[in-house]
Amino acid sequence: MAVSSLGYVRIGIRDPQEWAKVGQDILGFESATVEDGSVRLRLDEAPFRYLIEEAEAEGFICAGWEYPAVDYDALLAALAENGVDLNEGNVDACAARAVAAFTSFSDPSGNTVEVFHTRDKGSAFSSPLNLNYVADNLGLGHVVLPAMEHALTCEFYENVLGFGLSDELKLPPPMEGVPEMQINFYHADNPRHHSVACFNGPAPSGVIHLMTEYTTVDQVGECLDRVTRAGLPITASIGRHVNDNMLSFYFLCPGGIPMEVGYDGEQFDWSKTEPTYSTVGDHWGHEYNFPE
Ligand SMILES: [Fe+2]
Repeated sequence: MAVSSLGYVRIGIRDPQEWAKVGQDILGFESATVEDGSVRLRLDEAPFRYLIEEAEAEGFICAGWEYPAVDYDALLAALAENGVDLNEGNVDACAARAVAAFTSFSDPSGNTVEVFHTRDKGSAFSSPLNLNYVADNLGLGHVVLPAMEHALTCEFYENVLGFGLSDELKLPPPMEGVPEMQINFYHADNPRHHSVACFNGPAPSGVIHLMTEYTTVDQVGECLDRVTRAGLPITASIGRHVNDNMLSFYFLCPGGIPMEVGYDGEQFDWSKTEPTYSTVGDHWGHEYNFPE
């Protein structure tokens, strides 16, 4: 049993239109406001990839993972066997996510997780900024989650949820008195290097970062211009990661959500690829600069 891809993410914010504006004008997503005031953002033919919901508590709510319909019952059985408390989504909640069925639960670090099968058929996509994304069967990008219970959480994603290890990265402590940084990167059943990664540190917004991938370096550079012009905080300068070879920069979206904007992520045939164990994160760049 293997997870197919990262299907959607849900984000909470007091004014969803604030996120809609950044999604549309900075990232180039197609934006549509639905009846309950939430905003659906699209970057490919899927019904949506980002669901921005009106909420007092601002930040990342959860990732939604797609599984083949034939594997869905076995997945729920495996979760139950591991003592995970499952909440089955009702008809209205399924409609809001454009899925046939979904179940939510917490991972061992307390991150909310949703798993689903059978997404509604989408429609033709056209970016208001004429941009192109690496998405479709590779999912919307990737998500890096805070995992204070690092070992348990990694084991859960690998052994219960069916992700495959791509790379285990260990970096020296960022400052005195904190442990070494550990990030485990996991792939779904598609060629993207990682769809989820577990980081052994906290995240005030509920997520370490999300990633959107364009198809050319110019689209990344032009996005950097738009971010700069809008005065949004840049949290990492342009650079190239070692493990997925992604050339990217990071900026802060509304609700304190860090977004990696990249291109050139390497794609892999997992039947012919062994996990790597890294001690270097970047070939160059990515000077981190988090606002106080
Ligand atoms: Fe990333």
